[in-house]
Amino acid sequence: MKAIFHCDRHWGIGRQNDLMFSLPKDMKFFRETTIGKIVIMGRNTLLSFPNGKPLKNRVNIVLSPTDIEGVVSVHDLGELFGEIKRYPPDDVYVIGGASVYKALIPYCNEILVTKVDADGGAEMFVPNLDLDPDYECIHESDPVEDNGFLTRYCLYKNRNVKVY
Ligand SMILES: NC(=O)c1ccc[n+]([C@@H]2O[C@H](COP(=O)([O-])OP(=O)(O)OC[C@H]3O[C@@H](n4cnc5c(N)ncnc54)[C@H](OP(=O)(O)O)[C@@H]3O)[C@@H](O)[C@H]2O)c1
Repeated sequence: MKAIFHCDRHWGIGRQNDLMFSLPKDMKFFRETTIGKIVIMGRNTLLSFPNGKPLKNRVNIVLSPTDIEGVVSVHDLGELFGEIKRYPPDDVYVIGGASVYKALIPYCNEILVTKVDADGGAEMFVPNLDLDPDYECIHESDPVEDNGFLTRYCLYKNRNVKVY
């Protein structure tokens, strides 16, 4: 399983249940990476999408104690782990938000982080992987300009992947 997100200088990922930046190149990267794959999200992230609709051309799995129509609805982590066993682990992407990254990044072998060189005034954060010895940044791209922001595409490996 993998995780994918963009974050600001402080590992912030969102505010007011929305993204902090509009990044067309990063959005394209996200779409191309996840298309045809399985995406896992929390209910708030689903609600943050246009009209609260799931992402097209992907299997959308949504965590919530409440049943949600139009997606694969799972009620807890145990049910989620049962559900994703049917897919190749490399095809499964954790796509947010903060509570779901916190719970599931330890189970991910790769984390794709687009670092935005800015302060987005975040309210929601992911754990700073640079402070955790389990995670190693094995690749960082040259800076890419994206809608006026400098971004870097980083790939982290988890050396201590939890088994689900
Ligand atoms: N920068 C990025 O790349 C990126 C990507 C995605 C999201 N985001 C941002 O992240 C923020 C949202 O994060 P968030 O933490 O508030 O929301 P979230 O993780 O998307 O969703 C939280 C909700 O999911 C359900 N949930 C989570 N874990 C669960 C579990 N183990 N079992 C059952 N249900 C579970 C609960 O739903 P119930 O409320 O139904 O109990 C919970 O309230 C937004 O600002 C969004 O824009 C940023």
